[in-house]
Amino acid sequence: MKKVLSRQQYIQLVEEMIEHDKHYYDECKPVISDREYDRLMHELLRVEKQHPDWTLPESPTQRVSEAPTKGFVQKEHLVPMLSLANTYSQEELSDWIGRVHKLLEKKAIDYCCELKMDGTAISLLYEKGHLVHALTRGNGRKGDDVTRNIKTIPSVPLKLKGVHIPERIEVRGEVFLSLATFRALNAQREDEGQEPFANPRNAAAGSLKLLDPKEVAKRKLNIVCYAIAEGQSPKATQIETIHYLKSVGLPTSKPEFVAHAHNLEGIWKFAEKILKAREHLAFEIDGIVVKVNDLRAHDTLGVTGKTPRYAVAYKFAPEEAETRINDITVQVGRTGVLTPVAELEPVFLAGSTISRATLHNADEIERKDIRIGDMVTIEKGGDVIPKVVKVDFRKRPKSSHPWKMPRECPVCGTKVEHRDGEVAFRCPNPKCEGQRVRRLFYFASKHAMDIDHMGEKVVEQLVEKGLVSRVSDIYTLDEAALSQLEGFKEKSIHNLLASIDASRKCTLARFIMALGIKYVGTETAELLADEAGDLDHFLHFKEEDLLAIDGIGEKTAQAIAEYLHDKDNLHEIKRLLHHGVSPGKTEKRKRTDHAFSGKIFVLTGTLAHYTRDAASDLIKERGGKVSGSVSKKTDYVLAGEDPGSKYDKAKELGVSIISEEKFRKMLD
Ligand code: IVH
Repeated sequence: MKKVLSRQQYIQLVEEMIEHDKHYYDECKPVISDREYDRLMHELLRVEKQHPDWTLPESPTQRVSEAPTKGFVQKEHLVPMLSLANTYSQEELSDWIGRVHKLLEKKAIDYCCELKMDGTAISLLYEKGHLVHALTRGNGRKGDDVTRNIKTIPSVPLKLKGVHIPERIEVRGEVFLSLATFRALNAQREDEGQEPFANPRNAAAGSLKLLDPKEVAKRKLNIVCYAIAEGQSPKATQIETIHYLKSVGLPTSKPEFVAHAHNLEGIWKFAEKILKAREHLAFEIDGIVVKVNDLRAHDTLGVTGKTPRYAVAYKFAPEEAETRINDITVQVGRTGVLTPVAELEPVFLAGSTISRATLHNADEIERKDIRIGDMVTIEKGGDVIPKVVKVDFRKRPKSSHPWKMPRECPVCGTKVEHRDGEVAFRCPNPKCEGQRVRRLFYFASKHAMDIDHMGEKVVEQLVEKGLVSRVSDIYTLDEAALSQLEGFKEKSIHNLLASIDASRKCTLARFIMALGIKYVGTETAELLADEAGDLDHFLHFKEEDLLAIDGIGEKTAQAIAEYLHDKDNLHEIKRLLHHGVSPGKTEKRKRTDHAFSGKIFVLTGTLAHYTRDAASDLIKERGGKVSGSVSKKTDYVLAGEDPGSKYDKAKELGVSIISEEKFRKMLD
């Protein structure tokens, strides 16, 4: 007979299990056997099944949930997630310090130096101490809700400890994989015939996007928290904030990886120490992050574009390796541009095996005098694709000769074009199979229509066999057509047809992305979808409408307008719709009937009746936008008590300054 537990005993058991998790995961020193742990876990599950209403949100059973759901829901960050500006030298770092001094008009400024973890950013929202959700960075404003996956990371507390817990805080951190876990994961993938991940960062980001939390749990993700979203920290400095994060039970960097510096010299000392320690670290970093320690100054310093002025990354030089170029091949891109690629003797570099490196273009090959058979240095830093940096001329084989771009397209044989003043060589044949394959592959890719089972090899065959020539043809494929593909049997045919069918219902953002418009990547596609609301509106955008969208520049606006002007493109879109592709409407969050609609606000000083977040929410709900810094584009500066430099800037630029009183009146 099983023991019947009282509620009090249940709560005790939860606390006991949290302790065991800590011993096991944080200290790596379990005090009970795995078997005993499993037994207790079963007990916990049993009680919770009996009394679902007892289940505490912090119970370890809540880390892995059961059924996977398709896709992720997007949610808005309370405070946008920004990126960091990069510096690559002591001079650039010194320039940044100079700017900070000038803007703050202060002599003594201190800094917090941290590791720049090479993973993927995450934002954790805690309300009354409970984990509410975890969002990826997404486009900075909205991210994917990956809460279920984050809960598989044992060191993420479901409930914060301690008494000084604010009502609501948005904690920022980095999800990453240790090098050991990364290597084991890749070895396993290769055993199973799956493509290995290029680096730990991609593996971490990919793992976060898995649909089944049980699979995510196997990836053994890790996390480090390094900040509380702007204006929310209960502490006055960044260093205190990190201590605070640790004190409430969140995982933070080890103390030796956080330094308090008072000038460039101090910062540099930390950078040098970390650079030395780098090769012994259990995880990858791509530099250090330097932040102004005083959090009030963050507000004063504000934001430029997507990066704050209060912090900067100092990136380490990329890692290098030496290897031989066995061949130089030429790839035909989506737009016909020919890209030479070095086929390398495989070499291990910065956590992954490299066998190809882009050579960019013919000019680059000529400038560096790269030839087939050369021993070369390749480098790979952070997010860049491996590239060839230099040739070791002493090791050059005698028989080698300079490389020349082929005169004919390696795929279709058309004479290659090279316009004066352009570096690119192009295959001018729009019917070129190489281009077609790339376009189709791009259309079907994960970031666009996300058609599973439609990899490069499949696309190549579809084009070769004349089954598909433009993207809309994908939606005419049937069993008979697919049975012509090599190795395609009943099951694979069914799978591909099902994926194609599933892609018919897509978001507007994916659809826009899939069109392959120049300069339009995921973020821009999302912006456009948000702004347009539906396809019809998008198709009617004029260049000036596009320019008015915050985040879309001139080049991009022009490229989109050109694309939408082209009859062939519009016909192809019609064909897609005709074949049942139906990009969903984006919920138009914004109201258009309020005086705030379309207006850009900047907040400064302390408001008597609202927190900054509450005021921002009120503005956004009414269709307005909130920006971190004052510019000519700002419509209103809402000034509370003790306004900062934003107030002066607004005056200088003649931006309308409104009081809290006026703001309250305007609300309704
Ligand atoms: S602070 C305002 N601190 O680097 C931006 N970021 O390149 C706040 N990162 O998106 C970021 N380690 O994902 C900060 N100690 C650290 C970091 C860190 C890694 C990542 C983060 C950010 C990216 C920017």
